Amino acid sequence: MSKVSIIGAGEVGASCATCLAERDFVNEIVLLDIKQGVAEGKALDLRQSAALKRFDTIVKGVTSDYSAVAESNVVVITSGIPRKPGMERSDLITTNASIVEDVCKQVAKYAPNCIIVVVSNPLDVLCYCALKSSGFPDNRVMGMSGLLDVARYKSFIADVLHVSTKDIQALILGGHGKTMVPMPRYTTIGGIPIRNLLSEDKVQEAIHRTQMGGEEIINYLGRSGWLAAGAAICEMVESIICNQRRVFPVCAYLKGEYRLHDIYIGVPVILGTNGVEKIIELELDPDDATRFYESEKEVRNNVKVLKEMM
Ligand code: 2OP
Repeated sequence: MSKVSIIGAGEVGASCATCLAERDFVNEIVLLDIKQGVAEGKALDLRQSAALKRFDTIVKGVTSDYSAVAESNVVVITSGIPRKPGMERSDLITTNASIVEDVCKQVAKYAPNCIIVVVSNPLDVLCYCALKSSGFPDNRVMGMSGLLDVARYKSFIADVLHVSTKDIQALILGGHGKTMVPMPRYTTIGGIPIRNLLSEDKVQEAIHRTQMGGEEIINYLGRSGWLAAGAAICEMVESIICNQRRVFPVCAYLKGEYRLHDIYIGVPVILGTNGVEKIIELELDPDDATRFYESEKEVRNNVKVLKEMM
């Protein structure tokens, strides 16, 4: 019996639920929202697609009833306000940190053994907030952003090269912000290093567009996207629930890795039943190191705001 609860039935939460249900590897999904009836309505709509999309996953929606998340293997937190045009992810700290804090206390009460995957922004800071407010061990609290950023990066590279995204392997380190660190040194297309196939200008273009990937959508829609985010969360949840031990960039808590302590930031990890099974440490060349520690600085500044608040 496997169960996933998704806190926040907005676009990202609903998209994640849809992706999970369609892949049909969990027995039950609970959608929870504070807005009366929203989770119930979306859950009903999704469940009614089961016969057509051919899945067996049970989908339930509840309004603010955290007892429904009991026995969840994984709880995904998407709660909080999304960014509007002109906003930085860090502009959301105060509002979203108090929301995530409340959510985590409830989750810890009703599903004390679950793994928490934070999605709300600013991601790196809210992972830290989730760790402190849940009281969980750090392997059971992580954030999703790297997989989304990598998926964007892959799509931009695939479109320039006219190749399948499926054959692109890539890695992004650092915080989920403009200082994120796409790693061309670890980007290959069918095993071929990217710099063999693309000029340096084009590589830098893909990097820049990835760093601004969230903004590009916000500028079109007036809010952030949800389809790629939902699918990225689903990949992480599947690796955890099915103990696939996939290697993904995840926002994880560092205790000395990469010479950093007491910080959540994007690094490659092995994801399995215990959550973050292992953090993979890479040697950074001088340029990568400069970019990575620059990103760390940005994350630490945001965490400082959180700590003052807490
Ligand atoms: C994004 O990059 C919302 O942070 C999310 O789209």
